[in-house]
Amino acid sequence: MKRAIITSALPYANGEIHLGHVASTYLPADITTRFLKATGTEAYYICASDDYGTPILIQAEKEKKTPEEYVKIWNKRDYDDFSSFGIGFDFFYRTSSPENVSFVQDTFKKLMENGYIYEQEIIQFYCNVDKKFLPDRYVIGRCPYCKAEDQYSDLCEKCGRVPQEIEEPKCSICKNPPTKEKTKHYFFKLKDFESELNQWLDADSHLQKDVKKYVQNWIKDGLVDWDITRDIKWGVPIPLDDAKGQVFYGWFDNHLAYISSALKYLEGKGIDGKEFWNSADIYHFIGKDIVYHHYLFLPAMRIGIKKEFKLPDYIPTRGHLMLQSKKISKSRNWYIGLKDFLQSYPADYLRFYLTLITPYSQDDLNFDWDEFAARINSELIGNVGNFVNRALGFTKKSTGGVIPPAENLDLADKEAQDKIKNLAGDLVPLMEDNNLDRALKKILEFSAHFNQYFQKKEPWKGGEGTNNCIFISVNAVRSIAISLSPFLPESSQKIWSQLNLQGAVSEQPWSSMSDIAIKEGHMLGEPTPLFKKVEAADIQVHKSKLGK
Ligand code: 2FM
Ligand code: ZN
Repeated sequence: MKRAIITSALPYANGEIHLGHVASTYLPADITTRFLKATGTEAYYICASDDYGTPILIQAEKEKKTPEEYVKIWNKRDYDDFSSFGIGFDFFYRTSSPENVSFVQDTFKKLMENGYIYEQEIIQFYCNVDKKFLPDRYVIGRCPYCKAEDQYSDLCEKCGRVPQEIEEPKCSICKNPPTKEKTKHYFFKLKDFESELNQWLDADSHLQKDVKKYVQNWIKDGLVDWDITRDIKWGVPIPLDDAKGQVFYGWFDNHLAYISSALKYLEGKGIDGKEFWNSADIYHFIGKDIVYHHYLFLPAMRIGIKKEFKLPDYIPTRGHLMLQSKKISKSRNWYIGLKDFLQSYPADYLRFYLTLITPYSQDDLNFDWDEFAARINSELIGNVGNFVNRALGFTKKSTGGVIPPAENLDLADKEAQDKIKNLAGDLVPLMEDNNLDRALKKILEFSAHFNQYFQKKEPWKGGEGTNNCIFISVNAVRSIAISLSPFLPESSQKIWSQLNLQGAVSEQPWSSMSDIAIKEGHMLGEPTPLFKKVEAADIQVHKSKLGK
């Protein structure tokens, strides 16, 4: 049996999940996991909240909560939001789990033993009022490049650059100017891995060519060693006596939670986690903003501990979601929270639309309210909903829902039957190569073909070919239900129930969508409309809320 572990970028436990998160990362990972399970792979989808780091600590302090309390709230809220969107994690854990903390500390010790860690004195901002070092977001000031005020020392949000040294620095807590103090940090020798990283990138044929190319260009320009220490209290403690209460940088510990969470889950099921990991296909789904971390830091750290846990086979990387052609921004209210969206429309509407607009590439995507309405109304409802309802509704009316026999197939019947027989095989390469948008379009073509077939056969006239038309159409509805199951889990199960078939549609083997499995004499369930039209007036209301 094939095995797979699927992860998607761990969400920071620091705010609600919005449409930008799910489009490029969680939805494609979820669809792929469901597909792999249907093709008989023992696949597990593992995720966790990303709990550590300065922004989270600052926010918790602002809300007068301990960071532990603060991340616990977001861990639960994120998990609930994902679940209502049909994201079927097998396990959702946290980077602050005791298992991850000890896994990170062990990994650090192994890297140290293997000679990949060194200590170096650096100069850091220090606040004499708050009596603490001020990494990253604790310092604000003027960007030296674009002169924007109130920018963080680790990123200017105005111009997108990382300031070498911010002008007129202030402590973000008390607003007093900090001093500069010496502190000792640990560094990871990323530079030592240049050639092994290159070899891995060359050898892994599943990685996207364009991403590989720019990562290899970064390597060509020369990598720099990586400061993995932070002088704050919220993080995985550095497990050394002279660590002075320092912790690891969040990007040192977070991706290790892919492994530690998988081990925790697998071992809970009585499976040897390490053995499973090393014999599975490993998928890390990400957005393009974290390529550097996943194509360099993550593999280098795994190489650094002698590949005790194998490197990823797939790192599906997709672009950012824009909203009405503008960059998503929470502070300008130019964004849509997942929870809010799902209060207006079913999860499957969003899953359908986002899948169609999300190619397997780095290109940015665009959520457009009018396009959303148009595609749901014409492609989901006008095509799929219409065919399913027509085929099942007509059968109910004409035969009371009992499937008649098929005999003496004509050319159109045979062509239709061939479409059913070829569907599973046609979809497999697209799904395997992560072209989920193209796979969904293929299913829509299949459904469109059957709409035309039904229209041409005119079964309502009760002519000779009526029984064949019913028989083949109802079987095509079954194929649609199985093929749509990874994409639209709720709607496909509704179709399955209307067909009055046993079990869950998600448990059907992928290849079985190409069987003619509904036989003469089968009795259908109750056909009811699957979807409700998206109204233009509602769309206007949604649009008018943006930016307010
Ligand atoms: O960029 C982010 O949102 C990070 N929280 C992603 C972490 S993925 C990791 F764990 F590798
Ligand atoms: Zn700037």
